[in-house]
Amino acid sequence: MANSPSGESVSERIVRVLEAFDADRTALTASEIGRLAELPTSTAHRLVAELVATGLLERLADGRVQLGMHLWEIAQRGSRALRLRQVAMPHMERIQARLREHTQLGVLEHGEVLFLERLSDPHAVSNITRIAGRLPLHASSSGLVLLAFADEEQREVALAGRLDPFTPDTVTDPRELRDLLARIRRDDFVIAPGYVEPVSTGIAVPLRDGAGRVLAALSVVIPRAAPTAGALEELRAAAAGIARRLLRGS
Ligand code: PHB
Repeated sequence: MANSPSGESVSERIVRVLEAFDADRTALTASEIGRLAELPTSTAHRLVAELVATGLLERLADGRVQLGMHLWEIAQRGSRALRLRQVAMPHMERIQARLREHTQLGVLEHGEVLFLERLSDPHAVSNITRIAGRLPLHASSSGLVLLAFADEEQREVALAGRLDPFTPDTVTDPRELRDLLARIRRDDFVIAPGYVEPVSTGIAVPLRDGAGRVLAALSVVIPRAAPTAGALEELRAAAAGIARRLLRGS
């Protein structure tokens, strides 16, 4: 791919254009995209027009653009996220029907948890997780499970990085975190009371493929005062069911 005078490839610039959008910024002008993506306005206008022509961006009546349905279509096709979500979904729905709080599916993606799915009851406790949103590994229950079973190199990178607290209960001391991760490997679950928000508890278990590799974390977010034993039982039963399905490959 041809490079710009700054040495950046066209692909890198296109990714920056697409990354200018987020859950709070769903419609943007080409000039706003240029500012957010740190691209010259003329470049932003040209790239936006090209992306609209291919369907990766869609133009709204007021001239602003949004991420295109075609982008969603391509991203869904054959991605490992789709397969995992399809296998996990009936189990997540069962947990959700019983607990009526939040049930979520997350994977390790570039040093953070990326959430592929979240089911929530309208009356459930507060939850900052968003579908296609991310949380730091050290703070969230899903992240802690993924970090516990990540390869050692990834774990060391995370432990040496920023460990900012979300609440006074977030574990931020690397030595304490190392002990917590060892306990998660021993127990095969984590209960994280108040680590992300003081009002809630996250509980997470690993999801494994047929070879025993951890592919994802399945978690629930429940009120801080709620009992945890039943939720943990639900999660473990779901994880076992999902592993059986993945083993059969159906
Ligand atoms: C968690 O995964 O531990 C978690 C995530 C989002 C929240 C609370 C807890 O809002």
